Amino acid sequence: MARWKKRTHGCGELRKEHVGRDVTLNGWVHRIRDHGDLVFINLRDRTGITQIVVRADDVERLGLRDVKSEYVLSVTGPVHLRQPGAENPAMPTGDIELEAREIEVLNTCKVLPFPVSDERQMQSVNEELRIKHRYIDLRRPSMYERLEVRHKVVKLIRDFLHERGFLEVETPIMTKATPEGARDYVVPYRLAPGKFYALPQSPQQYKQLLMVGGVERYFQIARCFRDEAQRADRQPEFTQLDLEMSFVEQEDILSLTEELTSSVVRQLSNKEMLSPWPRLTYDEAMERFGTDKPDLRFGLELKTLNDLVADSEFAVFRSVLDSGGVVRAVRYPGGASLSRREIEELVEFAKSFGAKGMAYLALTDEGAKGAAAKHLSEERIAEIARRCEAENGDLVCIVADAKAVADEALARLRVEIGSRCDLRDPSKLYFCFITDFPLVLWNEEEQRWDSSHHPFTMPHEEDLPLFDSDPGRIRAQCYDVVCNGVEWASGSIRIHRRDIQAKVFDLLGIDAHTQVDRFGHMLEAFEYGAPPHGGIAPGIDRLVMFLMGDENIREVIAFPKIAAGYDPLMDSPAPIQDEQWEELGLALRETAPKDDGGQKD
Ligand code: AMO
Repeated sequence: MARWKKRTHGCGELRKEHVGRDVTLNGWVHRIRDHGDLVFINLRDRTGITQIVVRADDVERLGLRDVKSEYVLSVTGPVHLRQPGAENPAMPTGDIELEAREIEVLNTCKVLPFPVSDERQMQSVNEELRIKHRYIDLRRPSMYERLEVRHKVVKLIRDFLHERGFLEVETPIMTKATPEGARDYVVPYRLAPGKFYALPQSPQQYKQLLMVGGVERYFQIARCFRDEAQRADRQPEFTQLDLEMSFVEQEDILSLTEELTSSVVRQLSNKEMLSPWPRLTYDEAMERFGTDKPDLRFGLELKTLNDLVADSEFAVFRSVLDSGGVVRAVRYPGGASLSRREIEELVEFAKSFGAKGMAYLALTDEGAKGAAAKHLSEERIAEIARRCEAENGDLVCIVADAKAVADEALARLRVEIGSRCDLRDPSKLYFCFITDFPLVLWNEEEQRWDSSHHPFTMPHEEDLPLFDSDPGRIRAQCYDVVCNGVEWASGSIRIHRRDIQAKVFDLLGIDAHTQVDRFGHMLEAFEYGAPPHGGIAPGIDRLVMFLMGDENIREVIAFPKIAAGYDPLMDSPAPIQDEQWEELGLALRETAPKDDGGQKD
C-alpha cells in the first residue's frame, strides 16, 4: 500500500453528483488564498482544478501554514455544494468544493521562476527561462493541451494508415547522409576514428529501400535532424509523418494525403478547409502569387503589367523591361489613405526582400498619385487598376525587377497586406497542392544545378530528352502541400531505375566515383527489381501548430531547442570528457563556425 493516500478522482472530475461523497485528490497547489476564517486552495492535476476549503482552525492541525504554490498535496474530505452565489460557471467543477479533512504534503516547491498559474503574466515570461524549466512550464493547461493534441494527431494518423494496410517500420537514426538541403549532424565512430554516422535529415533512402524490400505501404512517425538556420516554424530536430507506397502514381499519393489530413483536422478542430484542395502547378503558383507557398485565404493575386507600361517614359520601367525583367503589381485594399511615411515603410519592406524599390499608384477620387502616375496616361492607369481589380481608395504596389526578385518582394508584400487588412483568418486552414516543380534549379553562386526537392525525384517521362538540351525545363513528378502560406508536406514519385538515377546525379554534378561512394547502395538496389514507388512527408509539428493557431514551433514540442540548436534545460550541446576525445581519436581545431546550413522550404 502507498504510504500516502492515492487519488479516488481527478481534480477536474468532481460534479454535483459527487456531493456528500468522501474523495481523495492528488495534485499541485495552483493558487492559495487566505481569507482569515477560511483558506481556499485550487488543487490542479492534468484533468482540471477543484477548489479545496480549509477552515482556519484546521490550518494549523493540517500543517497548512507553509503550503505554497506548486506544493504537491494529497487531500481527502467530503464534497459539498458551494454556497449559493459562490459557484464558478467558468470552472467545470465550479458547483462544488472539497472540504479538507486530511492533507498530506507529498512534496514542497521552491519559489517558482515564473508564475505558472497566471496565463496572462506567462505571456511576457522569457522563453529561454520557460524552456530551461520546461517541467514547470508543461504544467500549464495550455501546454498540456498541446501535448494532448499532438498525441491525438499521431494516434489518428496511425489508426487511419493501419486500416489502409500500412506498416509502421522504424529506420535507423545512426546512418549515412541523406541529402535534404541542410547540413548533417554527425556522430563519431569510436572503432574507426575519422568515420562518422550521420543522423537522418529524413528516412528518404530507407523508405525507398523498404519499397525494394516489398513492404509496399510504409509509414513512420519519424524524427529528422537538420543543421539549418532556425525559424519560427523550423527546429533542428523535428517529426515527419514519413510515408511511401509501391505501384502508385502521383494521384494515389495526393488523394491519400488529402483524405488523411482532412480526416485528422475534422476530428480535432472546427477549422474550415477547402474541399477539394486546390491544385496549382508550380508555374501557376509563381504567376498568380509569386511564390510556391501561396496563402489561399485571400485573393490579391499578383499581376504582370509589362504590356501596359511598355510605352511609358518612366525610366525605372524602361530599363527593367529593356533588360528582360518584369513589372508586376499587387493591390493594397484601402491603401491610398496611407501616409507618405507609411508608404515609405512599405517601400523599405519590399527592399528588404531584394527589390531595388517599389513604385505605387494611389487611386483617389482626384486621380492617381505617386511617381509612376506622372508617366502613365489616365487610360493606362485605368487599365492597370482594372487588371489589379483595384478601386478608388486602393494602392497599387508595383515592383520592376528581374522576375525572381519582383516575385519574392511582391509575394512578401501580398502577405504583409493580407495581415494588415485582416485577411489571414485563423479559423481557416486552406490546404492546397503545388505540382510539377522543375526537377532542378540553377544555383548562380556555385554555377551548378540543384535538386528542387531531392535527387531521388522522378522526372516526367516526356521531359527526359531535355536532360541534354534544357535541364531547367525538366518537370519533376513531385508535389508540395501548402497550408496558409506555409509548406507542410513534400513528396514525389521516385526514380526506380539505375540509369535515370545516374543521369540525375550526373546533372547535379555528382561524379561517378562520388555516386558510388555516397549512393552506391541505392543504385545497386534499383538493379534488383525495384518497383515503381512514391511517397510524401508532412510535418507533424507544423500540423499541430496549424491546429493550435501557434506561430512558434517550440510551443508544440515538449523539449524544444532555442536559437542555434541550444537546449537550455540539459545545457546541451555540452563538452565531452578528455577520455572520450582520446577514445574517438578526435582533437579540437579552433575554427569559427560557418554560417547556418542551406534549406529549401
Ligand atoms: P522536406 O525536406 O520537404 O521533404 O520535408 C517535409 C516536411 O517536413 C517539415 N520540415 C520541418 N519541420 C520543422 N522543422 C524543420 N527544420 C523542418 N524541415 C522540414 C515540413 C516539410 O514540408 N524526404 C522528403 C519527403 C519525401 O520526398 O517524401 C523530405 O524530407 O513540414
